Amino acid sequence: MDRIRILGGTQLQGTIPISGAKNAALPLMIASLLTPETLTLENVPRLADVRQLLRILTNHGVDHAIDGKRPGDSPIAGQTLHLSAKHIVDTTAPYELVSRMRASFWVLAPLIARMGEAKVSLPGGCAIGTRPVDLLLMALERLGASIDIEGGYVIAKAPQGLKGAEIVFPKVTVGGTHTALMAAVLAKGHSHIRNAAREPEVTDLAQCLIAMGAKIEGLGTSDLYVEGVAGLHGARYEVLPDRIEAGTYAFAAAMTGGDVLLERARPELLQSALDVLQLTGAKVTATPQGVRIVRNGGGIQPVDITTAPFPGFPTDLQAQFMALMTKAEGASRITETIFENRFMHVAELSRFGAHIRLENDSAIVEGMPKLKGAPVMATDLRASVSLVIAALAAEGESMIHRVYHLDRGFEQLEQKLGACGAQIERLSEAG
Ligand code: EPZ
Repeated sequence: MDRIRILGGTQLQGTIPISGAKNAALPLMIASLLTPETLTLENVPRLADVRQLLRILTNHGVDHAIDGKRPGDSPIAGQTLHLSAKHIVDTTAPYELVSRMRASFWVLAPLIARMGEAKVSLPGGCAIGTRPVDLLLMALERLGASIDIEGGYVIAKAPQGLKGAEIVFPKVTVGGTHTALMAAVLAKGHSHIRNAAREPEVTDLAQCLIAMGAKIEGLGTSDLYVEGVAGLHGARYEVLPDRIEAGTYAFAAAMTGGDVLLERARPELLQSALDVLQLTGAKVTATPQGVRIVRNGGGIQPVDITTAPFPGFPTDLQAQFMALMTKAEGASRITETIFENRFMHVAELSRFGAHIRLENDSAIVEGMPKLKGAPVMATDLRASVSLVIAALAAEGESMIHRVYHLDRGFEQLEQKLGACGAQIERLSEAG
């Protein structure tokens, strides 16, 4: 298993290109199941989760091709993926595949919408909490699917096709909204999705579906209106830049100090995080190329945050922000409202000498003037990268274990940070 070694204490200076968003690319790839024609996705990040989803789609009968290198391509350019679900030969998504990546459960919606049946393994819990799927199933039932659970599998049927309906989500759910959208676009008649998630990745999916011939209104709001169509066609669509990757490197630059341009980052996709970053004392400037983060000299000011659905502070940046707060000049309170168990990074951050205590759904972080390098490991993607941020600012050497978590969601992390002066290297098992 690979490890990452970091020698902390170097300021980040330079440019970091922001990749396509993992959490947009995954539902967009799944949307390819909705049409017998080819869906071409540009700017798809090269990530372990993307490769895993390709395996799952292949099992349903989806062909894929990836464009080769083109003249002038940057080594970090996203890939262009052609997905063609001409014939869906298997409507079952088995446990062995789904259990490795929760988002793959979302194949349920396009399979039932297009084929009238689907059998998909329940995804199970994960390191950040129990993460139920009741609301995803509720949405499909509202659209007329019958749902049974047998032997750990969801068996959904709608032999006469789905029918448009009003779907009211009692709480905001990204996966629930993706599911409702992908099912409603091929349902007969009109659907109204209320309390829909407004995350940019949901809007990206809606825009791609529209490019494929779907009729959806209310994009970016909590009310989505869908007029079902008989079929969808192929399209070409570019995945939006990853706001969580951008926010992660923004916090890293604030942590080490320095001057970093996050190329292609779109400030409106992470305004709440950038507002908080400014309160910590960093200078944030939107430029035509992206977002520039500067912290020279001044200390890091403590700021309290509470995670919330978009446009609030994203739960996917909570761990990274906590890392930044471990070096703040005072105490901050970080409250997690989306997932009940998303503080697994607290114990690991403490290994660097951070002072953090948990109080119910909050973490109280007492900032320290210095962190010290340490061997650490983490249990999920965002927690792992929070350890990278702490290690970049810690004195001496740190070793990050279980790098496969990082590989699920951060493309070329060592190359991107290394190009900005970070002393970071990957060691393979033998190394
Ligand atoms: C998506 O997960 C993201 N994953 C997560 O990113 C992200 O943290 C999350 O949205 C919130 O923004 C992908 O896009 C692949 P939810 P999702 O449904 O859709 C509860 C990362 O690190 N809920 O919006 O699974 C749920 O337990 C990952 O990239 C139900 O109760 O999240 C949670 O408390 C981690 N019943 C809340 O809703 C349901 O049926 C929001 O979850 C569904 C969800």
